[in-house]
Amino acid sequence: MLMAFRFIVPLLLVLGGIAWGATPLVGGLIERWFRADVDMRSQLVFHSIQDTVTRLAAAAAAAPSDRKAGREITALFQRITQDERLLALGLCSVDGQLKHHSSAWPKGLNCPPAPLSGQVSTVQHLDEGPVLAASFALAVEGVPSGTLVILHDLSFIERRSSSAELYLAGFLGLLGVGAAGVTVIVARLTLRGWIRAMRKGLASRGDGNEDRTLGPDIAPLVREMRTMLRQMDAPGRLADTIRVDWSPESLRRVLHTELPGAEVLVVSNREPYIHNMENGEITMQRPASGLVTALEPIMRACGGTWIAHGSGSADHLTVDSADRLPVPPESPAYMLRRVWLSDEEQDGYYYGFANEGMWPLCHIAFVRPTFRASDWEQYVAVNRKFADTVVAEARTPNPVVLVQDYHFALLPRMIRERLPEATIITFWHIPWPNPEVFSICPWKEEILSGLLGSSILGFHTQFHCINFLDSVDRFLESHIDRELSTVRTGDSTTLVRPYPISIEWPPAALAGQPPVEECRKDVRKRFGIAADVLLGVGVERFDYTKGIADRFHAVECLLDNHPEWIGRFSLLQVAAPTRSRLSAYRDTQVEAEKTAEAVNARFRRKGWQPIILVPRHHEPEEVFTLFRAADLCLVSSLHDGMNLVAKEFVSARDDEDGVLILSTFAGASRELLEALIVNPYDVHAMGEALHAGLSMPAEQRHERMRLLREMVGENNIHFWAGRMLLDAARMRKRRNIEHRIAAVSHGPESRNRSA
Ligand code: G6P
Repeated sequence: MLMAFRFIVPLLLVLGGIAWGATPLVGGLIERWFRADVDMRSQLVFHSIQDTVTRLAAAAAAAPSDRKAGREITALFQRITQDERLLALGLCSVDGQLKHHSSAWPKGLNCPPAPLSGQVSTVQHLDEGPVLAASFALAVEGVPSGTLVILHDLSFIERRSSSAELYLAGFLGLLGVGAAGVTVIVARLTLRGWIRAMRKGLASRGDGNEDRTLGPDIAPLVREMRTMLRQMDAPGRLADTIRVDWSPESLRRVLHTELPGAEVLVVSNREPYIHNMENGEITMQRPASGLVTALEPIMRACGGTWIAHGSGSADHLTVDSADRLPVPPESPAYMLRRVWLSDEEQDGYYYGFANEGMWPLCHIAFVRPTFRASDWEQYVAVNRKFADTVVAEARTPNPVVLVQDYHFALLPRMIRERLPEATIITFWHIPWPNPEVFSICPWKEEILSGLLGSSILGFHTQFHCINFLDSVDRFLESHIDRELSTVRTGDSTTLVRPYPISIEWPPAALAGQPPVEECRKDVRKRFGIAADVLLGVGVERFDYTKGIADRFHAVECLLDNHPEWIGRFSLLQVAAPTRSRLSAYRDTQVEAEKTAEAVNARFRRKGWQPIILVPRHHEPEEVFTLFRAADLCLVSSLHDGMNLVAKEFVSARDDEDGVLILSTFAGASRELLEALIVNPYDVHAMGEALHAGLSMPAEQRHERMRLLREMVGENNIHFWAGRMLLDAARMRKRRNIEHRIAAVSHGPESRNRSA
């Protein structure tokens, strides 16, 4: 529209100028034409009556008393002036006296000066209007005998020339509008075709054949843009293929160079630091959450604001008036912004929809998901509350928002609606089920559509990405590009990619750890384990997905089938109680405790028991000491997005010793190939894996651990975040280019629209 105005207004101005200059010229021209015409008519009239008038005038002059000739002249004049434009005729004497005239001869008009011969025309401006007086000399045998004056009314010429001016101006006006309209339409069609060709060109791979169809004007431009976009993609490929040492420093560099000035906001349900009131004192806890383990180093490196539920009993007491707290407490690097939830909100959103609905839905652990409408209402409301907080905390219109996990499936779209320029990176920390399983959720469309408000949606494995794309394909109207792994819904595109999460390398909890030998001694002493007993460790939350009871059964199988380990091997299982308000979790703990007790009851000897179960939370440093003290680590999740315990164990072993036994159903098994991979449902095979691990020669243990450490060290948490930020930066740059192309085709208003 604006573009049309930009064309039409100048065109009309130009045409207006032309009309303004041209119409008087045209008026003058028309006047001259008509005057020549009138002159010609005067001559015609003169020639047709010249003889008669000369004769009658001579007769009248010869017998002045005889008025007959004079009457005939007057009658002749009267007859001729029937023509409306012929005003009057008059006959003047040689001495300039008006002798005879028709009745309409203007009063007071004297004879114009007589021509010596031929004709003279003059314009007289009378009260009646302009008049052309054409005077013709009369002669009898060469002697002047008078003057015939023919008066023509010229006012019609003025009328005609001003109507002609009016028509001309109108015509030019219409011509202007028409020409402007046609110009705009042609320009738009050309531009649209040009842009379509550009887009097609950019979408193609750019081989010679395709370029030939583009046309000579577009092809060079497309080639140039393609090169630019390829250059933009290069850092990602670099990150994927070349081994870079990913560290807090390189991550900061990526952020500052690729996303300059970007404001980072993280949103998760679980907060990184929890303050509780214990025995009248405020204590601080770092929660047992893979999500927190992974993200905290990122925030320490990049700074920004982490928005999370303030769940601790002393959380209120440790924030400022804006509910903020700089963390980590020992050397603040970012801001923790706490959000408060009522008991009702927590019951519906966290315990209900997230942990009784989505958690069992996404994990194949054979616990039935429960979906209640009242929980869903709270889930929607809490997601909205966090969206409000994100908008309130954002200082820029285009922050990078990192949305975490299944607690916030609706949040990406809610943020997108209010901060359309934001780069929203959502990471789903748990598995994504296949479409059949996902269809159990009564709000499946809302969940999918909420997540597709993200710019990037990350899962741990390609398998989970495929499940997600299949679910979208089944339940949502969208365009899925499986090669590019993107989903387009309406105006927005979401890149769906696997980003296997990891841990900090080297982990902060490793700093200050005593040497392995000391850890071994210390732990054995603390838990009453003899020095010659080999030690396995398990570190979990008491969650039914972790397969804790199954691993106890595996220990039982080991001792049944390889009794030489009786008295020589113990499993130290630490497990933090979690989500205990839910019966499925309480049951998990009870079942684990009973199983441990039963196995211990069968095999216990004086000073030795096969399973030591410690049902309490351990801080990261304590956990690392356990890892360093162990001969093997057992991770037997029935289903797990990634499982960072496995990676932490590897990172804790800077002595390059220790065996990892890992469930094939944990995402980590896709990367940690040198672990002993087990099926946690097959307790016999797990018992055999325990035996293999305990009997493994030192050289093989070292070799495997070296490779495992190489893997985790390279694919560390900074690599994880770096890849996502690089993808986000590429998307931002692509979107900027697309915006610029759109701005050319739609005008500046398109620049204000979202991506
Ligand atoms: C999993 C989830 C995290 C969660 C953690 C601990 O790792 O993916 O989002 O924080 O479990 O669970 P909790 O409910 O205690 O936060």
